[in-house]
Amino acid sequence: MNKKHLTVKKLDINNLSDVMKLQEKIIKGLHPDEQHFILHRTEADYMKSLNGSNSNMLGVFDGETLIAQTVYCMPQNGESRDMPEFKPEIENKDLVLYEAILVDPAYRGSSLMKRMLEFIENHAIDNGRTHSIIQIAIDNPASWINALHHGMSITKVDKDPTDGVKVIYLEKKITHQPDDDKQLPPQKDSYYMYLGDNIHKKIPTLFNKMQFLIQSGYQGVSLDKETQSLIWEKQEKQNTNVLNLNLFMQNKKISSL
Ligand SMILES: CC(C)(COP(=O)(O)OP(=O)(O)OC[C@H]1O[C@@H](n2cnc3c(N)ncnc32)[C@H](O)[C@@H]1OP(=O)(O)O)[C@@H](O)C(=O)NCCC(=O)NCCS
Repeated sequence: MNKKHLTVKKLDINNLSDVMKLQEKIIKGLHPDEQHFILHRTEADYMKSLNGSNSNMLGVFDGETLIAQTVYCMPQNGESRDMPEFKPEIENKDLVLYEAILVDPAYRGSSLMKRMLEFIENHAIDNGRTHSIIQIAIDNPASWINALHHGMSITKVDKDPTDGVKVIYLEKKITHQPDDDKQLPPQKDSYYMYLGDNIHKKIPTLFNKMQFLIQSGYQGVSLDKETQSLIWEKQEKQNTNVLNLNLFMQNKKISSL
């Protein structure tokens, strides 16, 4: 792989066969237990994103070869959108939804997903969007780690209403900020959820704990490599469950997951 030659571009109907080929390759590479990581899309599904105005596709190429792709939607008010169970209070015209993110296994390890999200975010902001959202299976840390690195926060943990898969929802307020603003994060109470060096071993216990933290007013905001922890920050609004959380943490010792 020569990363110097990677280029990014919006995909169109001429890319349909490459898009299908890449999806096929990735589905084949997923373990049977991982098939729920992505919706298996048909040509007709992808066509809606390749010739549609509100659903789009971004691709990364190594020379002429498509090596990563993402569907993203910028819905209009009044039309139905995917993921209606998340952020129903935000108007469609303010949203960008990330879906169907795939990176060729040979090109993983360079945070290409994060780089695609950055690219789309800038495009979405230019189109007046103020909020990005994504839904990810809880047992797909490669994906939610990229979303966290991209600055998204975990604000909901639930079962997908259509198939019952345990999922986490992340969101981000998006805006072109001056660098000065970025360097002044608000001071917030933090909680370090220790994940260790094998996240997969922790996953079965994460769902309830993440849900509890969210109900207690926390959002999962970033990863701390030094302590191998997922950092949660208490949001401005005080929540009566915080006392319960402290009790819960003392009793269950969730800081040493
Ligand atoms: C999710 C996906 C797009 C990410 O690919 P990528 O951008 O190359 O991501 P990377 O391999 O660079 O990994 C990003 C982070 O996840 C971590 N990671 C990668 N694979 C992991 C795994 N199996 N378990 C735990 N963490 C993992 C990496 O260590 C890295 O974290 P770091 O930067 O803190 O070290 C890719 O794995 C993929 O195509 N998966 C199959 C389809 C899919 O699940 N799509 C997402 C649907 S929402």
